[in-house]
Amino acid sequence: MYLPENLELLYTPDQIQQKVIELAEQISIDYVNKELHLVGVLKGSFIFLADLARALRGQIYVHFLHASSYASTQSTGKVEIRHGLRLKNKHVLLVEDILDTGLTSSQIIKDIQMQHPASMKVCTFLSKRGTRQVSVETDYVGYTIDNHFVVGYGMDMNEKYRELSYIAYLKDAPSDND
Ligand code: PRP
Repeated sequence: MYLPENLELLYTPDQIQQKVIELAEQISIDYVNKELHLVGVLKGSFIFLADLARALRGQIYVHFLHASSYASTQSTGKVEIRHGLRLKNKHVLLVEDILDTGLTSSQIIKDIQMQHPASMKVCTFLSKRGTRQVSVETDYVGYTIDNHFVVGYGMDMNEKYRELSYIAYLKDAPSDND
């Protein structure tokens, strides 16, 4: 496994896959006899969602939306969401790679709730502790981590490192820049 010098390993591929299986087991039980609509948040969730989808039992549907914070003069952290999803009366599971400030997920949740889904839950592979600016109710959490800038398993630094099969953090990054 190639680990660049500037990265510190956080979770190995085996640890990741074990956690995905645990999450999928619980989700499969909770949604037995229900059609589940996974909604992945691009780009970061694309690998986690692919693994989760293949580990789940039962009928699932896969959707993606794109969310990005847009710059404003006051840095309000507003999130622009782009999708053409129709989720009325569907059982929706939002799939995130990481929850940090919570701004992205909370905005997406509001957006999806306006469509009146049958149910709406949140699954995130990583959850940072102590960094929320808004609270987000999470139903399925893989690992809770300290405030590191993490990369790999879909997550990037300036679009690099998404393809890594492990999760690592940047050794020299300030702790509040993720
Ligand atoms: C990351 C991540 C989440 C969001 C979490 O996305 O994928 O969607 O940040 O942060 P928050 O809780 O502070 O809102 P990012 O904006 O880096 O885009 P990307 O997924 O395309 O890399």
